[in-house]
Amino acid sequence: MKDYQRLPVNTGRPYDILLGRGLLGQAGTFIREVCPLSVRAMVVTDSNVAPLYADAVRDSLIRAGFSTVCVFAFEAGETHKRIETVTAMYGALAKGQFDRRDVIVALGGGVTGDMAGFAAATWMRGIRFVQIPTTLLAQVDSSIGGKTGVDIAEGKNLVGAFWQPVRVIADIDTLSTLPEPYVVDGMGEVIKSASIRDAALFELLERTNDFSPEWLTEIVRRCMEIKRAVVEADERERGERKLLNFGHTLGHALEKELHYTGISHGCAVAVGMAAVTAAAEKAGLTAAGTTARLAALLQKYHLPTDSPVPLETFLPHVTLDKKAAGGEVDLVLLENIGNAYCKRMKIADLSTFFES
Ligand SMILES: NC(=O)c1ccc[n+]([C@@H]2O[C@H](COP(=O)([O-])OP(=O)(O)OC[C@H]3O[C@@H](n4cnc5c(N)ncnc54)[C@H](O)[C@@H]3O)[C@@H](O)[C@H]2O)c1
Ligand SMILES: [Zn+2]
Repeated sequence: MKDYQRLPVNTGRPYDILLGRGLLGQAGTFIREVCPLSVRAMVVTDSNVAPLYADAVRDSLIRAGFSTVCVFAFEAGETHKRIETVTAMYGALAKGQFDRRDVIVALGGGVTGDMAGFAAATWMRGIRFVQIPTTLLAQVDSSIGGKTGVDIAEGKNLVGAFWQPVRVIADIDTLSTLPEPYVVDGMGEVIKSASIRDAALFELLERTNDFSPEWLTEIVRRCMEIKRAVVEADERERGERKLLNFGHTLGHALEKELHYTGISHGCAVAVGMAAVTAAAEKAGLTAAGTTARLAALLQKYHLPTDSPVPLETFLPHVTLDKKAAGGEVDLVLLENIGNAYCKRMKIADLSTFFES
């Protein structure tokens, strides 16, 4: 048995995050602990992750006594995060006669976790699911907090449910095969977390330039702590959890403008964080010098700070963001590095705010 850390998440239905190295081979045991009566397990994964890790997880589930273990692999990519893929999952669940005792295991990035979680939330009105996040973004962000869902033509994540996993198993070793652009992407969320809640992590990121497994474990753990604390305080995103949207209002609008293919999520969020902080600092709403520090850190981790298209072209999409209500939007601003707050602004005032 290898060492791992256990982080409890005290949401309405509490669960543990297990974080460490070499955990995939023990996944079955860890899943059995939280699914004592399950007979069947369905491993949901994508076409890139399946050949790398599905066998290890499947074999481990079989060793742990699951009598039916099927692997459902869909074609990788955000364009497949849609209801049709979930419908195909329902077909596989029906064929395998999955019932309320059984479990869905999401093995992959945020696309896999969001969709497998949504299938779990809705199959038989809710069955257990376990997250095994294999991207940096999924480990630090999407696997924790219970937001699940799919995209539709009108926007990302417009259909979904809150459904907490029964366990999150984050194996740092899986990051060794993650292509570089996705590491960069994940760093966007890491820098977001540090900016809103953890000045010490921000300083560590400024000082080091290391992607060793030990350092990655430390980064992931600290971001998990932040996400866990925020989600515990506000499971259904009524207040504090909104702070996690730092950089996201503009980021989502930019992603939409570029049809979700022209820029990655982490890069769009980086542009959003840089733009909103620059505007807020000019307006005296953010401490002087914050923009320069944030921009330098983003650039250090190869994240963009300038938008590839003018702001006026994508600002109108903010009105379509599901977080925009009644002609107003809650913008997340930094008071300084490590402290964030929400400021409600009229959408009509946004262009002046950003042009300032
Ligand atoms: N639920 C939430 O709270 C939440 C939060 C943030 C983002 N999200 C969602 O997460 C999604 C983005 O997640 P993502 O960036 O992980 O995307 P992703 O799941 O598409 O993974 C990125 C790419 O990496 C590949 N991959 C994954 N793990 C790998 C590994 N270990 N080795 C090699 N390749 C690997 C995947 O096949 C894919 O090509 C978006 O749909 C977004 O909406 C959800
Ligand atoms: Zn994000």
